[in-house]
Amino acid sequence: MLHENLSVKNGRLHFAGYDTIELCERYQTPLMLLDENMIRSNMALYKSVISEFFPAGSMPLYASKALSFKEMYRICKDEGIGTDIVSIGELYTAISAGFPLERAFFHGNNKLDSDIEFAIDNGLGYFIVDTYDELYAIDRIAKEKSIVQKLLLRLTPGIDPHTHAAISTGKVDSKFGTAIETGQALEIVKVALSLENVKLCGFHCHIGSQIFEISPFCNASDIMLDFINQTRKEFGFVPEYLNLGGGFGVRYVESHGTIDIRQAIKDIASHVKAKCQEYNLEMPKILFEPGRSIVAAAGMTLYTVGSIKEIKGYKNYVSIDGGMTDNPRYALYQSDYTVLTANKMDEPTNYTATIAGRCCESGDLIQEDVQIAKPTRGDKLAVLVTGAYNYSMASNYNKVARPPIVMLGKTDRVVVKRETLEHLTALDV
Ligand code: LLP
Repeated sequence: MLHENLSVKNGRLHFAGYDTIELCERYQTPLMLLDENMIRSNMALYKSVISEFFPAGSMPLYASKALSFKEMYRICKDEGIGTDIVSIGELYTAISAGFPLERAFFHGNNKLDSDIEFAIDNGLGYFIVDTYDELYAIDRIAKEKSIVQKLLLRLTPGIDPHTHAAISTGKVDSKFGTAIETGQALEIVKVALSLENVKLCGFHCHIGSQIFEISPFCNASDIMLDFINQTRKEFGFVPEYLNLGGGFGVRYVESHGTIDIRQAIKDIASHVKAKCQEYNLEMPKILFEPGRSIVAAAGMTLYTVGSIKEIKGYKNYVSIDGGMTDNPRYALYQSDYTVLTANKMDEPTNYTATIAGRCCESGDLIQEDVQIAKPTRGDKLAVLVTGAYNYSMASNYNKVARPPIVMLGKTDRVVVKRETLEHLTALDV
């Protein structure tokens, strides 16, 4: 099947060794499941491969924007990896989970003074700084608090990785980072080195997401190392860290490719090594920020089929008890998903269905014209590979409550509770 955590027994879909229909009965739908073993082994794989091929101190930082709740940070802590956070909301969640903040890297293109202060007060490891305003603000706030704050500068290497435009971030005109091509990156390094209350520890780039080729990463690392060679010449500055961001692709449907993470990291490492030798540079510690490739395939969402509407000669709408409120990715990016009828896995998939959510919004679809078993009200639909950027992008549009998340490990356990009607009105005055 699509991923190794899926199997079929007695016509029922099993996930991470659990019978999905039993889980639907126990927890009700919509329901989000996570395969703990897959999350942990993905983290462990990144950790071991990075430490095998890069200098000591190199490590993966889980990009927690992909899926952020307390247990995820506990797992990161347990697996001994770092984390990339992008808001004080994510930071607060990490703190609440007891995550060691010296391994937290704070991203974002518009950190407020209050964010900076909160992070410093809580002992954040590193800021990843986008531009001048932020750099000056961190220096000022660090000075008020009589500390020297460590940071990396986010640079845009000018790479187009041929992914969806909305998730391509390394191009010069991106809202993120400071451009190398325009000379501004060199200027900001000079400023960072001149400030007394910040310590420049490295450079960062992230070229985009859902990338299956190695070459964009190699090209980006070339540009970053060229840049490091330049900062050495200009300022005698060689950074401790080079952060190459996240972006490794994940297989959502059979026709998608796959990427062998071990091979990819190994290939990038030999590329970086060769470039460092060419410049006679000591290889910096390398950081990666994988999000999707850690959690996506470890997630599944289960729904119950409700109304079925067949418009003769047009479309068959199969409505489910969730939709864009728990998975907005089709509405936003026309993303591909695999949809299976979890209780009819032995039946032929000869029914063409458009899977529709419950929102008052025509675009509230999970997938259009997919082949499933002939549906009846009450069937359970499984949407695969929903671990990344689903729950973290969920909303309460139409006052729809978000599903719970159940972690499937040695036992099954609720790690995020189902939202209730009380939660939905909790902030209303
Ligand atoms: N590092 C930085 C600085 C990022 O901006 C991102 C993702 C990552 C790491 C993690 O990338 P990953 O390994 O997950 O590809 N909502 C979109 C994806 C947005 C990605 C944003 N940045 C989606 O649903 O496809």
